[in-house]
Amino acid sequence: MAFDIEMIEKVYATMAERVDAARELVGRPLTLSEKILYSHLWEGLPSQAFIRGKDYVDFAPDRVACQDATAQMALLQFMHAGKSKVAVPTTVHCDHLIQAKVGAKTDLQVANTQSKEVFDFLSSVSNKYGIGFWKPGSGIIHQIVLENYAFPGGMMIGTDSHTVNAGGLGMLAIGVGGADAVDVMAGMSWELKFPKLIGVKLTGKLNGWTAPKDVILKVADILTVKGGTGAIVEYFGEGAQSMSCTGKGTICNMGAEIGATTSTFGYDDSMRRYLTATGRQDVVNAADKVASYLTADSEVYANPEEYFDQLIEINLSELEPHINGPFTPDRGTPVSKMKAEAEANGWPIKIEWGLIGSCTNSSYEDMTRAASIVEQAVAHGITPKAEFGINPGSEQIRYTIERDGIIATFEKMGTKVFTNACGPCIGQWDRAGADKEEKNTIVHSFNRNFSKRADGNPNTHAFVTSPEMVAALAISGRLDFNPLTDTLLNDKGEAVKLNPPHGEELPNKGFDVEDPGFQAPAEDGSSVEVAVSPTSDRLQLLAPFEAWDGKNITGAKLLIKAFGKCTTDHISMAGPWLRYRGHLDNISNNMLIGAVNAFNQETNKVKNQISGGYDAVPSVARAYKAAGIPSVVIGDHNYGEGSSREHAAMEPRFLGVKAVLVKSFARIHETNLKKQGMLGLTFANESDYDKVQEDDTINFLDLTAFAPGKPLTLEFVHADGSKDIILANHTYNEGQIEWFKAGSALNLIAAGKA
Ligand code: F3S
Repeated sequence: MAFDIEMIEKVYATMAERVDAARELVGRPLTLSEKILYSHLWEGLPSQAFIRGKDYVDFAPDRVACQDATAQMALLQFMHAGKSKVAVPTTVHCDHLIQAKVGAKTDLQVANTQSKEVFDFLSSVSNKYGIGFWKPGSGIIHQIVLENYAFPGGMMIGTDSHTVNAGGLGMLAIGVGGADAVDVMAGMSWELKFPKLIGVKLTGKLNGWTAPKDVILKVADILTVKGGTGAIVEYFGEGAQSMSCTGKGTICNMGAEIGATTSTFGYDDSMRRYLTATGRQDVVNAADKVASYLTADSEVYANPEEYFDQLIEINLSELEPHINGPFTPDRGTPVSKMKAEAEANGWPIKIEWGLIGSCTNSSYEDMTRAASIVEQAVAHGITPKAEFGINPGSEQIRYTIERDGIIATFEKMGTKVFTNACGPCIGQWDRAGADKEEKNTIVHSFNRNFSKRADGNPNTHAFVTSPEMVAALAISGRLDFNPLTDTLLNDKGEAVKLNPPHGEELPNKGFDVEDPGFQAPAEDGSSVEVAVSPTSDRLQLLAPFEAWDGKNITGAKLLIKAFGKCTTDHISMAGPWLRYRGHLDNISNNMLIGAVNAFNQETNKVKNQISGGYDAVPSVARAYKAAGIPSVVIGDHNYGEGSSREHAAMEPRFLGVKAVLVKSFARIHETNLKKQGMLGLTFANESDYDKVQEDDTINFLDLTAFAPGKPLTLEFVHADGSKDIILANHTYNEGQIEWFKAGSALNLIAAGKA
């Protein structure tokens, strides 16, 4: 469990030299993001500075973290890489597979029974290959990383899009697909397009009801779910300095909701305090020696418009609490405007549930601030109108808040304490009555609120807000309640106005935990057996994908033309499907079942061009595959936004889809398609999307000349025999084209050619 101080000192030992050389190369002061990027190059400095948003660069991350849902496929792939041990410190965290229903104790027992074979697989494979294993109940990956492993100036990757949370401790932490993690675990470099930089200057100071959460809810409102794509968001200014480290973590965490590559903050006192409180004085001592390299050069923050591609300024003193949603985290509504918005849009006013915790908002500060609201309600005799639940981010947090009486406070209002795990945040919520699909409203302090995300009910209107606002709204039971101005009636019929929340940044008595739930790996794992039952419906050893035959793809059928938003949840749904994350054949039965067919506006109903009838997307794909017919998926903007799950790329690959042609991609998904040997393409002319018809047959005309920077030409043959020639752009470089040719990146690694 112990953080790797030697590795951290090694990173710092070369940091000054690398950053100074990079500054000379670039010829100007450097942002923090550039310092971390340039000090983690796989090879030495290039002859010219990298061009942001253009150059592909190989990096050497310091750590890897995987969660249980994505780790299964990543580690099944790693087993094929021919290595005896992971090349960089790696941890696996069991957090996604635990359902929230009754409460922590029972729910954990149920998960340990239901997912035993998966947890046993992850435990044994971790033990064998030198990976730290965090057992079910130990907590949520990003909270544990922040508490134990994140360090200023470091670079890590994780198989979860909220890996970005570690930016709260001044890291560049980036969510990737399992295939990228496998590369790094196998001792390879990790490739990323050199990101653009968005600066967010925070002036003023948070006060009253406003919390760090509101900063990112405001940023999401400004930038939208696409606005951060391909960029690192770097926060700075007096407002950043005055905020807690865990508050910074919340802001960075939800950088995933704007599509940002990652987000980060410069090293400061809040990080020193947090590192010290979590037992890492050694890291503080080491970081202090290179402190000037762990933040931007002073000129950058003095004249940010010269150094960032985009600049946003937010005055924290004037920022209002926000409530974002429903159905998308970038629909921001300041609390003062919610009443009018809710009425105008017909959102259910009555709140059924308030949920706090998750990897996003599980800090001691969050819990104490929310508890301060509950305490007031209890003291004034106000009966809470909605149900209330908590998913603590880690056993350390849970143990500490229990010791300090905070859980007891929550329990005074009947709060359910769920397992230290993702639970409702990933659809693992067995919510009573959700199957009736009634229109209803919930509020939570998680990060995502896409349709069906929490309870599987498409009519649940989920709104994202800070933990203290969740507490106030849940107590009032109304979405239009504004705690800054409104009063609540207590059991004597008196009007009571809640005071603004207050809390402790860090526990006065320090953090504590009895059993953190960590399993260290065997020193020598060579004799450790990794058992995967051939009859398991949860785990399946992988067979390599076939290599490209060197010919143009011809006679491909349109599988689906997806309309509008198509996130990785639409492509490979979570919730009940999480149980098949280690079984490619079985999980492929969820492929694109959430995507809307542009021709009939229905989900999971597409035309089978062989039979002429309509069927579920996976069934039609399997029919084409069985007939030896390749297929193609068409998509809209920001296709694949959401999570890093490579299942969204592996499933179509497994079911015979050869290409995904869209208006634009979310970065991680595009890379995942490439890794799995798929063609991820974008319309050179967006309006060509409209030319695609339901009965189309697609021929590639020049795939044999596939080369970097050269568009591909596709012929769409329509049912009436007419044709459209469509140009498709791509971002494959030489190495990525080799992945395509080999059938997948892993095929190249296993062959020792990558
Ligand atoms: Fe888990 Fe939700 Fe975070 S799924 S990792 S708690 S974003």
